[in-house]
Amino acid sequence: MVEAIIETAELVRLFGARRAVDRVDLRVKKGEIYGLVGPSGAGKTTLIRMICGLLPPSEGSVTVLGRSVPREFHAIEARIGYMPQESAVYRDLTVAENLLFFGRIYGMAGRRITARTDELLVLMHMRELRKQRASRLSGGEKQRLSLACALLHDPELLLLDEPTIGLDPALRIEFWAHFDSLNRAGRTILITTHYLAEAERCGRVGMMRRGRLIADGTPEDLKAQVPSAGKSPSMEEVFLYITQHAPSAEGGTP
Ligand SMILES: Nc1ncnc2c1ncn2[C@@H]1O[C@H](COP(=O)(O)OP(=O)(O)OP(=O)(O)O)[C@@H](O)[C@H]1O
Ligand SMILES: [Mg+2]
Repeated sequence: MVEAIIETAELVRLFGARRAVDRVDLRVKKGEIYGLVGPSGAGKTTLIRMICGLLPPSEGSVTVLGRSVPREFHAIEARIGYMPQESAVYRDLTVAENLLFFGRIYGMAGRRITARTDELLVLMHMRELRKQRASRLSGGEKQRLSLACALLHDPELLLLDEPTIGLDPALRIEFWAHFDSLNRAGRTILITTHYLAEAERCGRVGMMRRGRLIADGTPEDLKAQVPSAGKSPSMEEVFLYITQHAPSAEGGTP
């Protein structure tokens, strides 16, 4: 059996009476791209924040790279790259200074930070923006910088919360080329997206609704759940069918 890189068991997060994440058993395997989809407010970000140790669970457990999170998170944080939904770059710092700052947080040696910065600025087509303050970058440029910051220490597990939101189609294609090449190099990726065409490119997809993981499988597995008249349903049709037909959580609101 392939090793689980992320495993949650009966994971719950409450905000007051709201169950933002409700009894989620998620298993992300080594070397896969796992996509999380679900309507706004479904609990995707809350789930990712618990996986990267930023938010303590109300109930249940999270194991990442064999360690219990948040308790043992310090032992694995250098192996994880997190790109938050809200841009995490520092507006008053330049592009290069942002990368330097993240490199120091990760405890990287100065020479390695410089080498990785040069490499990533080329990869992200940002060489000429090196000295630009982050506050003056466009939305897409900020996202490229944010992805570069998450990749700086060459982590083996990437947690990407809506990395492609608002990007123009060409840049979205480019981001996916990066994800595919990182994945081919052995990196495991957990990604959330509202673009269902992107879900189709994931090895496995989890669908969330109202805090619950209501379906999970390869895109083909999920498509097989939809009754169709011969032709293969689109990911949009799969999503609509599953969200409409999944059993409601007890006491949940529609
Ligand atoms: N810090 C918080 N305090 C109170 N409620 C919160 C907090 N964070 C999230 N919530 C609530 O938890 C639920 C899940 O939110 P979450 O951000 O995880 O959803 P999401 O699936 O990431 O949505 P989106 O697709 O819009 O990013 C929502 O009802 C949200 O209002
Ligand atoms: Mg979110």
